[in-house]
Amino acid sequence: MTPQTWDAELYDARHSFVTGYGAALLDLLDAAPGERVLDAGCGTGEHVAQLAAAGVDAVGVDASPAMVRRAAARFPGIRVSVADLRDLPFREEFDAVLSNAVLHWVPEAGRAAACLYSTLRPGGRLVAEFGGAGNVSAIDTAARALRAGHGLPEAASPWYFPTVAGYARVLEDAGFEVRAAWLFDRPTRLTGADGLAVWVRMFAPHLLAGVGDPDTFLAELGERLRATLYRDGSWWADYRRLRVVAVRPPR
Ligand code: BEZ
Repeated sequence: MTPQTWDAELYDARHSFVTGYGAALLDLLDAAPGERVLDAGCGTGEHVAQLAAAGVDAVGVDASPAMVRRAAARFPGIRVSVADLRDLPFREEFDAVLSNAVLHWVPEAGRAAACLYSTLRPGGRLVAEFGGAGNVSAIDTAARALRAGHGLPEAASPWYFPTVAGYARVLEDAGFEVRAAWLFDRPTRLTGADGLAVWVRMFAPHLLAGVGDPDTFLAELGERLRATLYRDGSWWADYRRLRVVAVRPPR
């Protein structure tokens, strides 16, 4: 996984939709008080705090020390620590794993799925959502065409956006039973006139690699995308989500 450096305060200030949209995932998780739940990729801690407030025995891990520091500062008392989803230190400890908007950063999907499986007790469930096939393709395609026009090399992608069938296979190969999977469009509003530029800087810095003047590049990108992604006075990222529910079979 390409290490991603996060500005955790900017993430909260401009991209709180990441956790906001996770509310539907919490409903799907339907954690009961006393259940042990791991938030795999907890970001700045919102879901761990919400689960803990509901009496759930919640623990969060995130690969970014900046995110974990901010989570601990925002919600004193919650249990969060730094850990990589490809190498989790838990064995059969959790009733459920929740993961929101993280697994698209882990191209070693089989390794992450095997780790999540080991983390769950037999009978435990995984409820996850992340970018699915076709996610942000308008932004990605336009930025790549613009790079080519500027004579820049192909940018290696750090993202993993699988199809339903592809990810079901990954989960089944890890031992999970897939109970449900959905792939759906979820246009996502990027706040502010500079919303698209701020999003690219935070989530797609690889598309700016080697660009001499990022401000000009981003302005040109905005012109190319305005007709498709700007409406009702806002930028809308063309998000597509893959949501899955899977169970580690009981012994
Ligand atoms: C997403 O949440 O879909 C996403 C996040 C970062 C980069 C690309 C997509």
